[in-house]
Amino acid sequence: MRTQIAAANWKMNLSFKEGKQLIDEILMQEPEPAPGKKVVFAVPSLYLRTARKKIKDKPQYDVSAQNIYHKKSGAFTGEISAMMVASLGVGYVVIGHSERREYFNETNSILAEKINLALENNLTPIFCCGEALQTREAGTQNEFVASQLSESLFHLTTEQLLKVVIAYEPIWAIGTGKTATSQQAQEMHKWLRDVLAKKYGQSVADQISILYGGSVKGSNAQEIFSQPDVDGGLVGGASLIADEFLKIIRALK
Ligand code: PGA
Repeated sequence: MRTQIAAANWKMNLSFKEGKQLIDEILMQEPEPAPGKKVVFAVPSLYLRTARKKIKDKPQYDVSAQNIYHKKSGAFTGEISAMMVASLGVGYVVIGHSERREYFNETNSILAEKINLALENNLTPIFCCGEALQTREAGTQNEFVASQLSESLFHLTTEQLLKVVIAYEPIWAIGTGKTATSQQAQEMHKWLRDVLAKKYGQSVADQISILYGGSVKGSNAQEIFSQPDVDGGLVGGASLIADEFLKIIRALK
């Protein structure tokens, strides 16, 4: 079975102290998720080292950066490279979150560069895709997300692609309390897997974890995660509350 993943995306929230307390609470309540499951904390870069120390001896836990710069190194004041993140022992990086695409003008081709740098540095990319409301209303969401995948991922070899995790996050469901129905999530996840299968073959597509994101909470996680092509979630708001995120971890297949 594919790895089932609960990824917490803290975004720009929580003080250092609050973040430490949140991780401690979750580790105390859920010290050992079953093998085959993974819990990932995508924390602000400043907190990565401490977060990483806390989960160090827990194989089912990992930490993630929320972004990396699309260049290897150099005069880019304020930016953080894939190598820097990897040098802290961090396992994952979120690439192409819709907020980065929208507010920081990250294009599919910039994201392809970030994917390459992540993989070169042995970071597992959590590659985000998803359509805006107008696209869904126009009925062109399938073509839209297929092009996000093809323009940022389809230059990869099979071996490289197998290291990527995909997160489908419809923009109209992020932070809005408006979740996609489990059926809408399943339909899109199945479509994404078909798109991957067409390019890389079914057996490769069947190994890629595809997470759903957008207003996942304790009360709807189980219903969404029970869908056959949904392999867990990328969770914003509800990942900031220990009890909520614990329910989400426990809802993994
Ligand atoms: P949300 O955010 O769970 O608060 O909707 C999800 C995300 O942006 O990853």
